[in-house]
Amino acid sequence: MKKMTGAYTYLTVLLIALLSYNDMMAQNTAFYPGKLWFDNNQRLINAHGGGILYHDGQYYWFGEHKGEHSNAAWVGVTCYSSSDLYNWQDEGVALAVKKDDKSPIAAGSTIERPKVIYNAATKKFVMYFHLELKGQGYDAAHVGVAISDTPKGPYQLIKNSRVNAGKWPLNVTTAQQTATDKPEDYQWWTKEWTKAIENGLFVRRDFESGQMSRDMTLFVDDDNKGYHIYSSEDNLTLHIAELTEDYLDYTGKYIRIAPAGHNEAPAIFKKDGRYFMITSGCTGWDPNAARLLTADNILGEWTLHPNPCVGKDAELTFHSQSTYILPIAGKKDAFIFMADRWKPSNPIDGRYVWFPIVFEDGMPVLKWFDKWDLSVFD
Ligand code: DGJ
Repeated sequence: MKKMTGAYTYLTVLLIALLSYNDMMAQNTAFYPGKLWFDNNQRLINAHGGGILYHDGQYYWFGEHKGEHSNAAWVGVTCYSSSDLYNWQDEGVALAVKKDDKSPIAAGSTIERPKVIYNAATKKFVMYFHLELKGQGYDAAHVGVAISDTPKGPYQLIKNSRVNAGKWPLNVTTAQQTATDKPEDYQWWTKEWTKAIENGLFVRRDFESGQMSRDMTLFVDDDNKGYHIYSSEDNLTLHIAELTEDYLDYTGKYIRIAPAGHNEAPAIFKKDGRYFMITSGCTGWDPNAARLLTADNILGEWTLHPNPCVGKDAELTFHSQSTYILPIAGKKDAFIFMADRWKPSNPIDGRYVWFPIVFEDGMPVLKWFDKWDLSVFD
């Protein structure tokens, strides 16, 4: 009898183990915003502030690798691949940090919001990211550019700098270029200072060294022109800069958007010839209300609209911050809004919040879903 009980216990444990293994191996068939999301190795997907490249029938998700204690880059930019967007395979580190402290991408530097685009003419995969040099806080405000012959990498850093040194934005007037007031003439956050920022105070300050570049995304238009969109001027003003044909440099054409509007986390898409940009306000790692901007021409004019989020916690973008908007391959007018729910006390536990973009009267609307799948677009 004792023997039988032992056998039953053994079988029960085996059954439970088998069931849990089966559960772990089960394929995802839906998105669960804000919930833990595991890769093919049953490890948490670690690709924060990310973006997605679609290439040859596969999606590649690039993002910031985060640890448990720090937001700094101790590993680099990670890559995951998927054919269905629900299930992701770990493809390892696409851009690795360097052990050499003299490298701009030294371990312990800050690497944020990586995005990758493909250049069909050069056959290179081109990664842009926000880079802060080790030990310098957020002062460098550089863009890093890295390239690879394959989507998964390894990517090699080819340069890092500020943007468009010695070039004026297209929408800065001659009076704004030649004004003589200086940042030290003002106290931050006063009305006069805000007016001065609108009038290009920081664009002039950074004219020689190049414009600051922090939160960012990339966009390739229907004519294959590439654009770098970034928070500049101490995060006070967004810029859109046109890229050269090989996507490795700037043409020198760029504009300011919403001067002094304090926008971060830009994410952009195009529908019916119109450009839509969703951004956040600027409150560190804490969530705030999203903003929506539209334009008929990517290089302006851009118009600001009310918060596109509706429902409970809409004023906090459902406790998240935009990072990318993904057009779904083969589906018309189907876009996924991708956002991060940051957790600075344990960055690796930051969650992904993805929603389908719903259109109401031609305008994008974001609503909370506990669970959804791609059939919402059918
Ligand atoms: C908010 C930005 O959107 C993030 O990418 C990051 O730079 C944090 N601020 C740092 O506080």
